[in-house]
Amino acid sequence: MKVAGEPRRTIWLNDDGWSVSIIDQTRLPHSFEIAALTSLEDAALAIEVMQVRGAPLIGATAAYGICLAMNEDPSDEALDAACARLARTRPTAINLLWALDEMTAVIRNRPRDARREAVYARAAEICDADVDTNYRIGALGHTLIAECAGGKEGATVNVLTHCNAGWLATVDWGTALSPIYQAHDAGIDVHVWVDETRPRNQGAALTAWELGQHGVPHTIIVDNAGGHLMQHGQVDMCIVGTDRTAANGDVANKIGTYLKALAAYDNGVPFYVALPSSTIDWTVSDGVRGIPIEERSASEITRMSGRTGDGTVVEVDISAPGSPAANYAFDVTPARLVSGLITERGICPASAEGLSALFPERTSD
Ligand code: MRU
Repeated sequence: MKVAGEPRRTIWLNDDGWSVSIIDQTRLPHSFEIAALTSLEDAALAIEVMQVRGAPLIGATAAYGICLAMNEDPSDEALDAACARLARTRPTAINLLWALDEMTAVIRNRPRDARREAVYARAAEICDADVDTNYRIGALGHTLIAECAGGKEGATVNVLTHCNAGWLATVDWGTALSPIYQAHDAGIDVHVWVDETRPRNQGAALTAWELGQHGVPHTIIVDNAGGHLMQHGQVDMCIVGTDRTAANGDVANKIGTYLKALAAYDNGVPFYVALPSSTIDWTVSDGVRGIPIEERSASEITRMSGRTGDGTVVEVDISAPGSPAANYAFDVTPARLVSGLITERGICPASAEGLSALFPERTSD
């Protein structure tokens, strides 16, 4: 996608052939800054402090984290240590462990002097495949928006989304936002309700920013507004992303997604989840009970950052000193509330049968 008219990805290999650059998402929307990753620890910290975030981009960054580790030391011991460090960074997005498995498979049984080249090639493939996959998700999801527009005789299609599952959460295109970009580019009149997504405000800070860069009409709403809008016929469909989808179709996504799904169900609003197959955890058969939920620092709730009139970005307390806070970062939406899963292979019911029909090779896991 484009930033100020220039095509960008969220992560790329530098011209030196070994170091990596990312868009530092902790600085958006106030400033667009590039950060360099030159070591395993840089990559691990970038994921931990959320300079990069979003399940597919976490996976891509972990892949390059392995490259940076192998660049320094291509031994089995260094590989094990790098996998252990990266696996500890964020627990819910399964793309992280998926990418580590992919990278490990490339290294094992390969002579040390051939490892460096092999891992960089695999990381580049993972990134290119992510872009292609997300484009396909967008093309399929676009048909849902086009059908809806047809049913409304061309009137504006209002889509509600939660958190950021746009191109900033992937290498490019995004998952939930890819259908929206493609519908918009095809001339469909689409408008996006953007949940601000407390506490880190990925909706207000990132989704609104990237939609704005692409010229897609959108409106930021507080997290609790969705139910009201749905009751009043102002939401035609919801599309969200996911950090881990269980084999039974339950989906983990940013905290608050479940409440949106409940409101959508109560109001007969279709609720779609867009995901690449690398987000499916075939080993978890019950997402509500089996998906680990990340708990982050209470300070993300009790403090907030923003830009002042003179352009400085400051952090302020928004609660009394010492007030306890609990920061659950994700929740799980049961499959029964999901109208369909939009994957790169097709749109399927959120169920074990639906997923098995699209991915028959994975059903025996
Ligand atoms: O905590 P974050 O910002 O990494 O959470 C991101 C989300 O919840 C996204 O919706 C999810 O990763 C899907 S990204 C295409």
